[in-house]
Amino acid sequence: MSVCKGTIFQVIRQIIGQNPKSMLFTLILYNIQGFMPPFFYLRDMIDFRSDTVTKPSKAMLEHMRLAPVGDDVFMEDPSINTLEKFISEKFGMEAGLFCPSGTMTNQVAIKTHTQAGDEVICEELSHVYQYEGGGIAFNAGCSVKLLQGDRGRINAAQVKAAINPEDVHKPISRLISLENTTNRGGGACYDFNEFKAIKEIAIASQLMLHLDGARLFNAIIHKKEDPKDYGKVFDSISICLSKGLGAPVGSVLIGNAAFIKKARRWRKVLGGGMRQAGSLAAACMYALENNVERLSIDHANALLIRDALLKKDFVASVLEVETNIVIANIKGSKTAHEIAQALKDRGVLAMPMSPTQLRFVTHLDITDANMNETIEIIKKL
Ligand SMILES: Cc1ncc(COP(=O)(O)O)c(C=O)c1O
Repeated sequence: MSVCKGTIFQVIRQIIGQNPKSMLFTLILYNIQGFMPPFFYLRDMIDFRSDTVTKPSKAMLEHMRLAPVGDDVFMEDPSINTLEKFISEKFGMEAGLFCPSGTMTNQVAIKTHTQAGDEVICEELSHVYQYEGGGIAFNAGCSVKLLQGDRGRINAAQVKAAINPEDVHKPISRLISLENTTNRGGGACYDFNEFKAIKEIAIASQLMLHLDGARLFNAIIHKKEDPKDYGKVFDSISICLSKGLGAPVGSVLIGNAAFIKKARRWRKVLGGGMRQAGSLAAACMYALENNVERLSIDHANALLIRDALLKKDFVASVLEVETNIVIANIKGSKTAHEIAQALKDRGVLAMPMSPTQLRFVTHLDITDANMNETIEIIKKL
């Protein structure tokens, strides 16, 4: 049973609002809460399902409110122009393209790099293949060569072996798409030398190299990398601001000027040409200016969750935690879904990935108090 959001106290609190008298009342209710059984409490769910659940802070909203706007299809939105310039320069690339989602930046990139009938090489768990609705086939008309990697990461030798020879029977290998950090691989990061080795293979065979960097800043912070190194290796990079960085909407595709010019056309074809969307870009700028360095807090919190999980007899192992994703392998009589339900009954949300895998993702809306409470709840589970 879960009554987290609907406790009688919470309903009362919502009805009476937040004037000074009712705040006193709320305080009393919060104190009563300490004596309540596990599923009676007044707070919101502590949500570890994904780092996409973050809500814009007051300061971010204020930044959005003040943003100058214009028509971005005419390339006249000052806030979007600023964001595109800022992020492309940060990675040492020539130009950027603001899109509403990471799926769109990836799909526009793939469409721009390829022609129908080409082949895209990627890891079998990669987001571009698993979670973008078959967009590689639908939007770009390409086939995919899937490689089995290590937690979502592939290596140069695999890529070399996967490139098709010049043969009319085979599709033309055109694009390699990598992911850093890997989502389904549990936030694993590439060793940068592997990127360089893959780039050499790509150059030798005239393939393009795309990076799905939905959580690229998590890798950059964890590995203390220089964003400009990424700009030197990749032909295009998709960067999401709506994951761990906390913007409500927005991804930017970066590359050279000719590539982005072509990509802008495909964004329009896909319906992603936005008008006065500068307030969204302003949220992304706020995220870049304020929420990058703090990702290390999310990484430290992920380690705390890993440590608590490792003490449980229903946990067989936890994938090595590098960034903000924790994936526990579950053993024993309970499934990951049942454990997720038990957590939910106590006000904590985690995501079952399969009957034997449970995922926690840390993010900027998780407070220290949330962490302490979650660790206690896991202990008592
Ligand atoms: C690795 C990766 N790439 C791309 C995306 C797509 O982003 P969006 O949800 O903004 O389309 C996600 C979303 O979680 C992701 O994890």
